[in-house]
Amino acid sequence: MTSSHAHAQWSSRMGFVLAATGSAVGLGNIWKFPYMVGQSGGAAFVLVYLVCIALIGLPILVSEWLIGRRGQKNPINTMAQLAEQNGHHRSWALIGGIGILGAFLILSFYSVIGGWALAYMLDAATGAFSGLDKNAIGASFEAFLASPGTLFGWHTAFMSLTAIVVAMGVSGGLERGSKVMMPALGLILLVLVGYGTTTGSFGAAVEYLFKPDWSKLDGQVLLAALGHAFFTLSLGMGIMMAYGSYLGQEVNLLRTARTVVLMDTAIALCAGLAIFPIVIAHGLDPSAGPGLIFVTLPIAFGNMTGGIVLGALFFLLLTFAALTSSISLLEPVVELLEERTSLGRAGATLVASITIWALGIAALLSFNLWSGVKFAGLNIFDLLDYVTSKFMLPVAGLGAIVFAAWKLEQGSVRQELGLSQHEFKLWTFLSRYVAPLGVLFVFWHNI
Ligand code: PFF
Ligand code: NA
Repeated sequence: MTSSHAHAQWSSRMGFVLAATGSAVGLGNIWKFPYMVGQSGGAAFVLVYLVCIALIGLPILVSEWLIGRRGQKNPINTMAQLAEQNGHHRSWALIGGIGILGAFLILSFYSVIGGWALAYMLDAATGAFSGLDKNAIGASFEAFLASPGTLFGWHTAFMSLTAIVVAMGVSGGLERGSKVMMPALGLILLVLVGYGTTTGSFGAAVEYLFKPDWSKLDGQVLLAALGHAFFTLSLGMGIMMAYGSYLGQEVNLLRTARTVVLMDTAIALCAGLAIFPIVIAHGLDPSAGPGLIFVTLPIAFGNMTGGIVLGALFFLLLTFAALTSSISLLEPVVELLEERTSLGRAGATLVASITIWALGIAALLSFNLWSGVKFAGLNIFDLLDYVTSKFMLPVAGLGAIVFAAWKLEQGSVRQELGLSQHEFKLWTFLSRYVAPLGVLFVFWHNI
């Protein structure tokens, strides 16, 4: 997708849904969501997260698509142009800029975890987990983390895969593949949820996920839930805006957003229902952090019939889901370089990927050699995550919805969204007040 070329459009609504879902569904759902739930103490986080998705994430997703469809350019130029057309300052383009910088930072650590998924695919396929108990599985994960060389190798492999797909411009093929891969991933998750019901701790897990202990709720949990709503829906990075620029007028934005959001949320909740029965049954630490799925799911795969095949398939599909997200992160960075420098697509991809890959090395060293290197109490990995999810994405997303709801002529927005007068009142209330004030409230709570 290069905006300097004549602007092609998605061949169908299906193609668009696949690309948007491919970007949304990824490590955020299966790796990050469960560990954040665990770190934040369970259901209170989950419920706030669901509210954030519905009242803030969904309207922002619609706003980003709407802006993108009108601008028909990359996020920076789109914002600059729409602002000018509507009599506002060009500095709205900053929102697009923050987004692209955010994508750059996120991909650096996303690729590290993509590498973990690749490594575990191989382990699962060779039966490395067979018959192992929780201690052995925990120890093998610790040994994995303690080896910078191994992490480096897998990070390099994942980043190379991402770069190859983007350089060859074949991400469309990957997205079409996700038509089969996503449902398959969902199916395996359901099998794992089924396994969870055999652990004797399924009820306790449901309670942990959905029965809130509101005393666990504080400013940090609010911010974590808000930030994750942005991360999981790929918001605030200009990515959905860029996708919107390829969207035909006939596509109903609200209906499509609902589809994408429901799929993303369903996968995250299934991941939670698969992982927490194992955590509880084996007395594991829910707040173990980024390693959570890598010390829980192998227990299931190592101890169930067909676990070798299922485990290998699961990590293969997880890698695939991670890849459709990582290409969506790399693409805007490459496009920007391609447009603003004399580099061609291949050169731009190479420069962007090498820079991101190098930053990723700093992120993976946080798990071993540089674990003591901290800024404001956070290691480099956590810092990259914090700055993006908890700051840049919400700020850029806020900018997008404020622009769509306050700076664009609203009669045309109503028409574009196909809303009756009555429905439009609700939309106005959500997009002008609820979503922006929601973001501001969470920020204000953390100052
Ligand atoms: N939404 C992806 C996930 O949940 O894994 C991660 C992601 C992709 C974040 C693309 C941001 C983005 F722009
Ligand atoms: Na997601």
